[in-house]
Amino acid sequence: MATDVVTMDKIVSLCKRRGFVFPSSEIYGGLGSSYDYGHYGVLLKNNVKAQWWRAMLQERDDIVALDSAIIQHPTTWRASGHLAGFTDPLIDCRTCKLRFRADKLGEEQCGRKPSVHPGEHEACSLTAARDFNLMFETTVGPVKEEGATVYLRPETAQGIFLNFKNYLQFSRKKPPFGIAQIGKSFRNEITTGNFIFRTREFEQMEMEFFVPPADAERWFEHWLEQRMNWYLELGIRPDHLHLRAHDQDELSHYSSATSDIEYLFPIGWQELEGIANRGDFDLRQHAEHSGQKLEYVDTADPSARYLPYVIEPAAGADRATLAFLVDAYDEDEIGGERRTVLRLHPLLSPVKVAVLPLVRKDGQPELAGEVYRELRHRVQAEYDDGGAIGRRYRRQDEIGTPWAVTIDHQSLEDRTVTLRDRDSLAQDRVAIDELAGEIEARLRAPWRSPKLG
Ligand code: GAP
Repeated sequence: MATDVVTMDKIVSLCKRRGFVFPSSEIYGGLGSSYDYGHYGVLLKNNVKAQWWRAMLQERDDIVALDSAIIQHPTTWRASGHLAGFTDPLIDCRTCKLRFRADKLGEEQCGRKPSVHPGEHEACSLTAARDFNLMFETTVGPVKEEGATVYLRPETAQGIFLNFKNYLQFSRKKPPFGIAQIGKSFRNEITTGNFIFRTREFEQMEMEFFVPPADAERWFEHWLEQRMNWYLELGIRPDHLHLRAHDQDELSHYSSATSDIEYLFPIGWQELEGIANRGDFDLRQHAEHSGQKLEYVDTADPSARYLPYVIEPAAGADRATLAFLVDAYDEDEIGGERRTVLRLHPLLSPVKVAVLPLVRKDGQPELAGEVYRELRHRVQAEYDDGGAIGRRYRRQDEIGTPWAVTIDHQSLEDRTVTLRDRDSLAQDRVAIDELAGEIEARLRAPWRSPKLG
């Protein structure tokens, strides 16, 4: 019987055991909320990002790509409003010496008495709330002096606005069109925890879609639908995903409307991605601070000039990776033995196919090696000939490998192999010559989470 009992602890433990994600700097005792992606984590997150690029670039012709610098001119952050407004209200506890977000006091725990929230702890003497800027500051050049202060970007979006003019000139695009970027962002978050859900260094997948102001609302709706479908097509169960419109008092300083795509994590419903109507806030601010004209001017009709409005789907690559892991996690029983299995969409699975000789003799490893070398040209494949076949299947199930090819004594006689399916456990006999084509066909076929029953 499949279960749906997923806890964050189970995910963390699987990630460590199977080399997806490790706590960072572990040999020095770790660094709070910093994580390193191991081999399978890199492959998984790469697949998440590749699917995002596919949806943004390959399957459309109105979006172009960018990879901008992490450290940008410091005026960027004055213009964007981050220097003045990207703050959290902070409260210090004089008793336990911890620092809390004033708006999250009820969710956090006192350092002295973890069973109570700081607001409820009578010995907990709290300071008044102070605003704390979330941007990491550093200096450029060898001398720490006035004017050398720069910031690690807290969102990738601003790099897109700074390049808007370049794109108008070189890409021959006119609104509606978008610029997409994936890259690291940094925030000195006060409330961290929950594994890779909220960290100080994380990767964002952001796209700024520039539109004529009158069309902004229509495009906002378009992107809500597109982004919801992206998660659903990659196998997230519909009852674990919903849209939540921000209340007026929740909106960021730049936004006139925002809806979050939320996922039902083991810690409850939480933001996975925000889709915002940023209006012309950013282009207007950068035009003002830089003295440059950032309007779009229609070449056919120069009287038609305007600052485009921006619709922004902003997703987190790490948070999406966590959501896919949580949604895929399953436990069941085969032949009286429990197994953990990641029922990932095959396009996201770190390894698509494992090649396993049944025994390490009788020419089976040699034939398996031949099959493996052929398959790895086409898809991410793995060869494993160590240990009992059942154990090797379990290992592949735990990393979410959708198919396993087993080479047995019959394979040497008729050049066929068994192709085992992770979810249905069906074992089909397939000719070696047809194997790569068969796997690629399965990879392209529509997929539905087996957890939906
Ligand atoms: N440019 C708009 C923007 O940055 P955001 O809602 O602050 O909006 C977008 O961030 C997405 O980035 C979030 O939905 C989340 O997936 C991810 N994200 C933000 N802060 C994060 C953090 N500290 N750790 C991991 N992911 C984060």
